[in-house]
Amino acid sequence: MNIKGCTALVTGANRGLGKAIVEQLAQGGAARVYAGMRNPTAVAHAAISPVRLDVTDTDSVARAVEKCSDVDLVINNAGLLLATPMLAHDSEEALRRELEVNTFGPLRVVRAFAPILARNGGGAIINMLSVVSWYVYPFNATYCASKFAALAMTDAMRIELKAQGTHVMGVYAGFIDTDMAGHFTGEKTSPIQVAERMLAGLEAGQEHVLADTAAEELGRAVRFEPKRLAAWAQSLWDDGRRS
Ligand SMILES: NC(=O)c1ccc[n+]([C@@H]2O[C@H](COP(=O)([O-])OP(=O)(O)OC[C@H]3O[C@@H](n4cnc5c(N)ncnc54)[C@H](OP(=O)(O)O)[C@@H]3O)[C@@H](O)[C@H]2O)c1
Repeated sequence: MNIKGCTALVTGANRGLGKAIVEQLAQGGAARVYAGMRNPTAVAHAAISPVRLDVTDTDSVARAVEKCSDVDLVINNAGLLLATPMLAHDSEEALRRELEVNTFGPLRVVRAFAPILARNGGGAIINMLSVVSWYVYPFNATYCASKFAALAMTDAMRIELKAQGTHVMGVYAGFIDTDMAGHFTGEKTSPIQVAERMLAGLEAGQEHVLADTAAEELGRAVRFEPKRLAAWAQSLWDDGRRS
């Protein structure tokens, strides 16, 4: 799929990675970029149109479908991280809230937009996943569970939407330098790099995009050194260290 001339919707586009994706799309020559936001603000670029969109609200998604009926690219980027271990006193509530945004959010959006994509030639869906779709970082365990589920959902969507010609891609990254990772120390990838690799991967027809070094290294560790990775996660937890 070409970025030049495409019509895209990006969820969670007012800040962080979503904002960077919208800017990269506009720079890459997208004909129109709908920037989904819970509270839309003006954007000073002729090709970018803010659209009110809360991915936890089915009516809001339905209204976005009416406004964005010309899209051929849907990017599920909106996300929520509540930094909650799995057995914390509030973990059930945290997991429900994260599932609502990170898992049911993309599900609602894709179910609503799949017929539009079919009508517009198939197009593509990108789901922003994470390295923690593959392994558990114990301090964010409920978030990991929502991103694991989102990966399974992405793979299922690819199978079900193949017949209508919709390409489905997952994107994986370690910590990205946005508000979400604001309280983490250590190396973070710039949102621009993640956006660039995401869109380059789409143009290359990839199904899975490793958007930074952390994703490349952890991807290898998950496949070839799962015991070492599990021991590292255990030691982080035992030492009470977040990195
Ligand atoms: N940052 C990282 O380290 C990292 C690493 C790997 C993957 N990711 C993933 O990358 C994506 C973008 O994250 P980010 O780092 O840019 O996070 P962020 O800085 O916290 O921004 C989150 C975005 O999601 C939006 N959002 C939250 N709930 C929403 C809802 N119900 N409906 C619509 N939009 C909603 C926020 O809107 P408001 O401004 O209205 O809250 C905001 O625009 C997420 O899917 C995240 O899981 C992030």
